[in-house]
Amino acid sequence: MKQMTRTIAVLTLAIATIFYYSAATAAEPQAAKETKAKAIDTKEQKTSNHPEIPEGVSCNDCHEVKYDANTTATQVWLTGESPAKKAGEGVMPKDKIWQEFTKMIGNKTGTKTFILATCLNNEPLSTTAEFSLDPAKRVLYGLHEMGTEKLNHVQNNPKVSLNWHKDFDSFADFRCCQIKGHAEIIENTKPEFDAAVKNFLPYEKSVRLPENATLQQKEDAYKARRDMLKKGNFVVMKISIDRITMANSAFVKDGFRVYQRWVP
Ligand code: HEC
Repeated sequence: MKQMTRTIAVLTLAIATIFYYSAATAAEPQAAKETKAKAIDTKEQKTSNHPEIPEGVSCNDCHEVKYDANTTATQVWLTGESPAKKAGEGVMPKDKIWQEFTKMIGNKTGTKTFILATCLNNEPLSTTAEFSLDPAKRVLYGLHEMGTEKLNHVQNNPKVSLNWHKDFDSFADFRCCQIKGHAEIIENTKPEFDAAVKNFLPYEKSVRLPENATLQQKEDAYKARRDMLKKGNFVVMKISIDRITMANSAFVKDGFRVYQRWVP
């Protein structure tokens, strides 16, 4: 009986050992086999053999996703053979695209409400916010109250995208622009905060003045408002523009494509 128990124990140990080693060696070639993620295009779908995708990770974290392969809709409308244009025809010169963009967006007096998209840990967030363009530096400035979700996003991930569009009237008359850029928060203790507010943000519009205020009274009231912003809970968001994609149905009458893209 004792003999039998010992035999079983030895056998169990032997089987466990064999199992352990075979499991260990089986794991090895798998680790060695791990290959790099190749570039994929937007139509591609992963197979059931695909490596596990951790939560909060998206395709383009591992793969280069080729949005601009020649077959994509965007490329056809920007430069490709399209129903109205031959390949390469109707593309605006770079300077003209920028000029049209400044016309669309304006400067301090043309401050517009944009949709600002930010992303943190693969959780997107879109926010309406006002921005003004500094056409010389090619940056957008916005004034924001601290402690909001969008600022938290930007502080941890500066990559942003914005959109401005004219409200829909008809398919014969539309205008919009999509911007990709990177954002930076400028604290109100920095001289750059002052300069941005003074030169680019239409803060004067909220200052109430007596009807026939003198120039001096105006200056004083504006300065008081700027000081208040500085002491308050405000920061400036500065967005450097990395790419603009614009649509304007009016471009067509000058022989240009409706869709144009600008990169620095
Ligand atoms: C965590 C990184 C990672 C993420 C995220 C990821 N992939 Fe992959 N993918 C890989 C790697 C590594 C391979 C190569 C696997 C191999 O050849 O053994 C691969 C292979 C592929 C292949 C080739 C065939 C296959 O399925 O093995 C396709 C297609 C693909 N991925 C599509 C996608 C798509 C679509 C997404 C988003 C839904 C995605 N991948 C997300 C890492 C990733």
